[in-house]
Amino acid sequence: MTKYTKRVLPALASVVMSSLALGLAALSTTVRAQDATSADMTQLIRQGAYLAQIGDCVACHTAKDGKPFAGGLPMSISIGTIWSSNITPDKDTGIGSYTLDDFDRAVRHGIAKNGETLYPAMPYPSYAKVKPSNIKALYAYFMHGVQPVSQANKTTDIMWPMSMRWPLSVWRKLYAPDVVTDDTPVSATDPVLRGRYLVEGLAHCSACHTPRKVTMQEASLSDDGSTFLSGTVIDGYLAENLRGDVKDGLGNWSEGDIVAFLKSGRNEHSAAFGGMAEVVQDSTQFMMDSDLMSIATYLKTLGPAHPDQTSLTYDSATEKMFHDGSASSNGAIQFLNNCAACHRTTGNGWNGTFPRLALSTTVNTKDPSSLIRIVLSGAQMPWTASAPTHYAMPGFADRLSDQDLADVLTFVRSSWGNTAPAVTSEMVAAVRKSLPEKAPATDLQTRLINGICRSKTR
Ligand code: HEC
Ligand code: HEC
Ligand code: HEC
Repeated sequence: MTKYTKRVLPALASVVMSSLALGLAALSTTVRAQDATSADMTQLIRQGAYLAQIGDCVACHTAKDGKPFAGGLPMSISIGTIWSSNITPDKDTGIGSYTLDDFDRAVRHGIAKNGETLYPAMPYPSYAKVKPSNIKALYAYFMHGVQPVSQANKTTDIMWPMSMRWPLSVWRKLYAPDVVTDDTPVSATDPVLRGRYLVEGLAHCSACHTPRKVTMQEASLSDDGSTFLSGTVIDGYLAENLRGDVKDGLGNWSEGDIVAFLKSGRNEHSAAFGGMAEVVQDSTQFMMDSDLMSIATYLKTLGPAHPDQTSLTYDSATEKMFHDGSASSNGAIQFLNNCAACHRTTGNGWNGTFPRLALSTTVNTKDPSSLIRIVLSGAQMPWTASAPTHYAMPGFADRLSDQDLADVLTFVRSSWGNTAPAVTSEMVAAVRKSLPEKAPATDLQTRLINGICRSKTR
């Protein structure tokens, strides 16, 4: 080895080494930067997936036995049928070609990419309250976290002229609220604000629980002291009053009771059925405890719609009557023969298994729609991770006449301390007639669209 090589080689080596080191360092910075962006993206997609559960997008955008989010769920309405859209990222049949802006226009403004107004069956009047950064996360999830499915959208089978969409845009301009622009995050450190943000917005609780006006917009979109979330009939069931009323609202439910109901579909007061069973199964059971607690905390701030209601107190006379064998009314006999095995002669049921009928908000509502419907059709509790057994109640449509059913419900509504108006056989007959034959049409859609068409043709 020459002097030269002796001196130069190490120098060269050190140059090589240092540039290598530099290169490696540079390389590792790019790798780290890439890691960081993909970690941010993964985080955004994960957040979007959670938000999609809160918004319950899957419930309407998945057909029975269909692929998730591929649409095709029929919603029958009196003038025809509409089908929910494919919102998977498939480029041709789904929303794969939607930009963030297009997505936002559909979800919060109710305007499809082709410029047409969506039926408000898509709850965009509620989603208008979702913060822009949450829309961004939802978009990331639908573009990158959802499997694309090639499935063409069905067009409505509504006949012209009812099929024209321009009346929908008139409705939208009149009644859809302004879209939120403020992007300050709403965290669970302020549970009332966070609860309100979820209830009024993404979780769209008021789409089912708030009464609607003749023109079908919700009577109020945030707490107005009485009508917001004060209860209304949807799909033939009464979505109860969620305000502070002590007899038929959540006045006597603790925050913990509300959390348990939304998480497991049952608590010591009641069990979810009808549309609410699906909401629990597809959406609320997946909410973080802090979000459930925020919703409960917010709901408990809502004053009663009817402040004059008094709390009910348990009356043991009914149980004594059964015990003495002195029950003689047709309602009491029907109860003993058809209901007591599960709901017990005490009316207290079995906590977590068969809901209590004594002092129950469901039983003591003025409007008996839910009661007639559940006894005719039966029901099955939602399946939830925290309460995996879904107990069922059989339907009695084939076993009880209109009169027997009216009698048993009148008995239930006036026993154990319950005080609610009698149920007549005419009421039962009307509900029996309206029972869906197979796939139930969602009543919300019917009412929305009838309302829109009515307001247009008048
Ligand atoms: C209560 C039912 C319901 C829920 C919940 C719902 N959607 Fe929809 N959505 C619909 C219906 C029905 C349509 C089609 C309306 C029409 O054809 O006018 C629709 C349309 C859309 C469209 C427009 C598609 C197109 O072709 O332009 C998008 C995007 C969309 N929904 C996204 C969502 C997202 C995201 C969620 C959850 C955050 C969601 N939807 C929740 C019922 C629902
Ligand atoms: C698709 C319509 C629909 C949506 C959306 C919906 N609910 Fe309900 N909810 C119902 C129906 C119908 C009932 C009556 C059946 C029952 O008691 O389970 C009900 C019942 C309830 C009850 C039981 C009340 C009682 O007195 O027994 C609570 C609590 C409740 N909902 C809370 C909520 C909250 C909170 C949200 C939003 C996160 C929500 N619901 C969204 C339809 C809905
Ligand atoms: C085999 C047991 C069983 C029998 C018999 C039965 N039920 Fe039920 N009942 C249940 C179960 C389980 C639920 C909860 C269903 C759900 O949440 O989907 C329920 C729910 C109810 C509810 C709603 C209570 C609430 O707050 O969620 C009412 C009201 C009711 N039953 C009334 C009756 C009447 C009236 C009869 C007799 C005609 C009857 N049930 C017979 C098991 C039964």
